[in-house]
Amino acid sequence: MTTTQSDAGLSMDLGDDLILGRARTLAPLDPALADPLGEAFAALSPWRDYPFSAAALAGYFRGIQPDAPRFAIRVGDQVAGIAGLRRSWLRGPYLQFLGLLPAFQGHGLGSAVLAWFERDARAMGERNLWVATSDFNRDALRFYTRAGYHETARIDGLIRDGKTEILMRKRLD
Ligand SMILES: CC(C)(COP(=O)(O)OP(=O)(O)OC[C@H]1O[C@@H](n2cnc3c(N)ncnc32)[C@H](O)[C@@H]1OP(=O)(O)O)[C@@H](O)C(=O)NCCC(=O)NCCS
Repeated sequence: MTTTQSDAGLSMDLGDDLILGRARTLAPLDPALADPLGEAFAALSPWRDYPFSAAALAGYFRGIQPDAPRFAIRVGDQVAGIAGLRRSWLRGPYLQFLGLLPAFQGHGLGSAVLAWFERDARAMGERNLWVATSDFNRDALRFYTRAGYHETARIDGLIRDGKTEILMRKRLD
């Protein structure tokens, strides 16, 4: 198993929020937060569109798997969202889950998480970054495209019949 700062239980700096001046960090997700965050994300698009149940999301949030950390994205002392990784996925890591609660969207926090994801992978000498998003999630597609990700595959029925996921890659030179 890869040993990282996150595995050691430390929090990682995402840089300060330039507007409010609060520290933004990633820290291992407290399992006690899995249920409330499962409820919150089950009510939000794209998860509500499948739908994913609150229990299924909570089960993923509290899961413990080798090389697949779940992080709380924090702004000051508030939990703003969750990032879930799968390291060593396909010649590089896969960002399996990225979600911010509505109050924290559109303020550069998601971009800060992607910048950390890239720095972490580069530090490990990886060649590729991977994300996937639903084809109907136009905001997320624009967000990942602006960050340098390109469509690699359209995968019909990956999660549900009648729905298509877009696998996106960023190549690290
Ligand atoms: C998709 C998501 C992760 C993006 O994170 P985010 O923090 O909202 O995105 P950013 O703020 O970094 O960038 C998005 C917008 O905010 C703007 N922005 C960036 N920094 C900003 C700042 N400091 N202040 C205000 N706006 C800012 C960007 O210009 C961008 O605007 P545009 O898309 O209209 O051009 C987040 O919105 C989210 O969780 N959405 C719901 C769940 C979801 O779709 N997850 C992805 C599933 S795969």
